[in-house]
Amino acid sequence: EKAGYRHFMAKEIAEQPVVLADALREAGRDGTLSLAADLDFRDVDRLTLVACGTAYYACVVAKYWFEQVARLPVDVDIASEFRYRDPPLSPKSWAIFVSQSGETADTLAALRHAREQVARIVAVVNVPTSSIAREADAVLPIRAGVEVGVASTKAFTCQLATLLLMALKAGQDRGVLTAEQVAAHRADLAALPGLMNHALRLAEPIALLAEDLAEAQDILFLGRGAMYPLALEGALKLKEISYIHAEGYASGELKHGPIALIDARVPVIVMAPRDALFEKTVSNMQEVMARHGKVLLISDARGVAEAGAGCWRCLTLPEVPDLLAPILYAIPAQLLAYHTAVAKGTDVDQPRNLAKSVTVE
Ligand code: F6R
Repeated sequence: EKAGYRHFMAKEIAEQPVVLADALREAGRDGTLSLAADLDFRDVDRLTLVACGTAYYACVVAKYWFEQVARLPVDVDIASEFRYRDPPLSPKSWAIFVSQSGETADTLAALRHAREQVARIVAVVNVPTSSIAREADAVLPIRAGVEVGVASTKAFTCQLATLLLMALKAGQDRGVLTAEQVAAHRADLAALPGLMNHALRLAEPIALLAEDLAEAQDILFLGRGAMYPLALEGALKLKEISYIHAEGYASGELKHGPIALIDARVPVIVMAPRDALFEKTVSNMQEVMARHGKVLLISDARGVAEAGAGCWRCLTLPEVPDLLAPILYAIPAQLLAYHTAVAKGTDVDQPRNLAKSVTVE
């Protein structure tokens, strides 16, 4: 059932282009792609996105999207914080709960907490028969298929795609995007599986440099804008399966503390497509290099040509429309974690102390 792969995680990383293409096709067939009229964002004044772990990082990416394409204010919260903080919620707001399993105890409790306070409870889940799906007013399936590896991979990219479709619908409903603009973004999304196939070719160079990463005590991930949550996700994935201490930071935060950690032994992984924020990120990267940090730059060909000099290593991804970059850059983040764990010989599919579905608080 691993289809020739050594681990479920490897299989689940590799199948993402097909899984995403199928998910989009099915969503087109049953109307989820357009979210029909059923989810009408015209009267919504605010969104609250709540989840745990990797699903939470998908929510942080979605905050950037909803703000940018729909000009809709978004709060993002970790479920275990949200449920006890008792934040004031607008009766015209929606609360969106994102969960692969649909059974995460804190996320379910957060949903119940929001129940009487918001206009609508929306579930974004992989398991449509789950508790979180059953208790929501509207359910959006991410259609990732069964995910066996404890480290979430294909569910993350499918969560992102579903949240992006929601953001586009919100943008159209609120008059921020025209129907033509939405159609253009959807066409970009339909082309994404092809770019993901290219990204998967990085498996080989990543397996080689993972031999070095496996020696590190600490690894930092940096990103700006919607690449910031990807830095957080890259660090989480790496620490949970390779047991190497890793932290994700917003690039601009570097000089507010973490730069003190930098020396020649600390690999710093910079996720930076050649977008409007690229130069800002590069200047943070140069601060790292000036302190002899070992920079691994992940960018596109233009980015690597402009800023690759002096880096320890560079990985080149295809160019991708800005909005979709977080989905594409998830692949090298996952491959780095996977191959580093393999180099260390850890139990990739069943990391110590972790469960696939966290049904206790
Ligand atoms: C990390 C990972 C976890 C889950 C988290 C939420 O790779 O898998 O952080 O994302 O436990 O689980 P779900 O999405 O099932 O609510």
